[in-house]
Amino acid sequence: MCGIVGAWLNQGGAEDIADVLIEGLRTLEYRGYDSSGIGVLRTDIGSSSSAENVKVARRQGRLENLEEVLKDGSLKGANVGVGHTRWATHGEPSDENAHPHTDGSNHIALVHNGIIENYLELRRELEADGVVFASETDTEVLTHLVGREYAKSGDLGGSLRASLRRVKGYYAVSVVGNMNGATELACARQGPPLCVATLENGAMLASDVLAVLPHTREVTYLVDGDLAILKPGEVVIETIAGEAGESVEREVTVIDWDTEAAGKSGYEHFMLKEIFEQSEVLGRAIHDRLLPTVGDVAFEGDGWTDPELNGIGRVQILACGTALHAGIVARYLIEGLARIPVEVDYASEYRYCDPVVSPGTLAVAISQSGETADTLAAMRLAQELGAQAMAICNVQGSTLTRDCGRTILTHAGPEIGVASTKAFTAQLIAAYLFALRLGRARGTIDETEGRKMIEELRHLRPKLEGLLTTDYSDHIRKIAKRHLDAKGFLFLGRGVNYPIALEGALKLKEISYVHAEGYAAGEMKHGPIALIEPALTTLVINTKGRVSDKVRSAIEQVKARKGPVIALGSDPLSAELGDDVIDVPTSSEWLSPILNVVPLQLFSYHFADLKGCDIDKPRNLAKSVTVE
Ligand code: AGP
Ligand code: GLU
Repeated sequence: MCGIVGAWLNQGGAEDIADVLIEGLRTLEYRGYDSSGIGVLRTDIGSSSSAENVKVARRQGRLENLEEVLKDGSLKGANVGVGHTRWATHGEPSDENAHPHTDGSNHIALVHNGIIENYLELRRELEADGVVFASETDTEVLTHLVGREYAKSGDLGGSLRASLRRVKGYYAVSVVGNMNGATELACARQGPPLCVATLENGAMLASDVLAVLPHTREVTYLVDGDLAILKPGEVVIETIAGEAGESVEREVTVIDWDTEAAGKSGYEHFMLKEIFEQSEVLGRAIHDRLLPTVGDVAFEGDGWTDPELNGIGRVQILACGTALHAGIVARYLIEGLARIPVEVDYASEYRYCDPVVSPGTLAVAISQSGETADTLAAMRLAQELGAQAMAICNVQGSTLTRDCGRTILTHAGPEIGVASTKAFTAQLIAAYLFALRLGRARGTIDETEGRKMIEELRHLRPKLEGLLTTDYSDHIRKIAKRHLDAKGFLFLGRGVNYPIALEGALKLKEISYVHAEGYAAGEMKHGPIALIEPALTTLVINTKGRVSDKVRSAIEQVKARKGPVIALGSDPLSAELGDDVIDVPTSSEWLSPILNVVPLQLFSYHFADLKGCDIDKPRNLAKSVTVE
């Protein structure tokens, strides 16, 4: 949930470690941001002269608050350290609870992402032993365990290993320490992600490869149960298990993302930049995957054969939040096009509902990050129960892609805005391609139909580009302004656009904190109709197609009760009824969600901007929910 960074650079280099850590934290801030901190020390590499004790600076709130504190220069001149952006689970966001935590003697500074489940019993044990706690966090328990071991052994990696073996829970943890003139930097993973990198004159670790990219493109992802010891020019990976830990080899991954792709490129917010990137995302997601002459699709290295696809008797989709909405769209696509029964479950529900997995079940996890704890756990359960696994994921090398093996990468590029936009459209494209591939393998889609579907997909890009213009965006901003005082919003859609109504409502809630509900248009009359009044705006998505007449009736029902209506979509008759109209070009019904969601993203963006909300860092949210 939070971000961890650690680095050790040889002295004599131009870079100050505090600056390196802050630069790293800035790229990780999207993961969690109720407080931040760094802990550093100076050491003379290769000499026996003693290094100083760890110095720590921590502040509640945004990274700027920490930077303000650092202006006094007190942490300058160091060359090794760890940093953290926190998303509180134990203890309120405060300076005292912010990480790094130190043992009483300032020999170590420790940062932690995750939860230590048995922290209370360990805390009681430590307190009974005379340890005085300075924070309410679960993390400080681990800090004192490590600190006590380290004082005895002078071996930080070994102390971390011994302490972690007493801890229940999940973590990414990093610790820097100095004892008797020897400095060590170590980290370990059991749950949240962590990668390490060897630099020419140093070494780094981070929760997300984004923090390491300015220094190197070659990184190694730790897997659960790994512990790494970092020194300039050297990273040694061992197991947490075992008295002394066994040494293990992990593959080096070369990252081909451009760091520029993680910058704002002149846009005011990442969210707006990411919305406007969606036509490129479409290009990337279909690149090299279409076989237009035979009306089929080929994914790179997915390993599926037609008989295997034919053997799938049921699809179980597992996801959270926005990815779950993509999963519901996928359900309509797979059932409609490949005629396989599909169930979609919140990953958090699935993992505790004692699910039944019938033979021939394919479990598909959808996730932008590939690190969402609920999704990972649900997928592991489905696999244990005998399901085959596949991931639709944006991050190659993430835990999900490694757990599942078979993966359709969504190729959306790094998504920084907490509110997911381009990753969602990329998931919709992947779902469309997979449904087409399934349908072709099973014979529910013939070659002619397959060619037509590919043709429609190719025509989608210019239509998408037509929505990503300043004029279109300004038009939506004006509409958002007119509804700024609405006391709430109802989003309605039907069929494959029902999940788009859910997604439109989620986007608005997430970044503008206004109450919004998404509903199946046909369900409105069974309850939510009671909400309709002039102060509640109803946004109706209506695409020209099989159910447009039905959706139009819902508009009539809202209007009859004096509810203002924003009509969105390609149905011209709905446009005649709407108080405000957002036109969307016609496309095949299966592809219409990809077009319809764009104006909804823009609507939430402008609404939140007009309200003065912090769009890229909405309150209480974190980009990647790596805790349960
Ligand atoms: C999206 O706007 C949300 N912030 C959130 O619902 C997100 O989609 C969810 O947490 C799942 O994340 P994932 O795709 O990384 O698994
Ligand atoms: N559980 C720890 C805390 O509350 C770490 C939370 C995080 O992942 O940021 O401080």
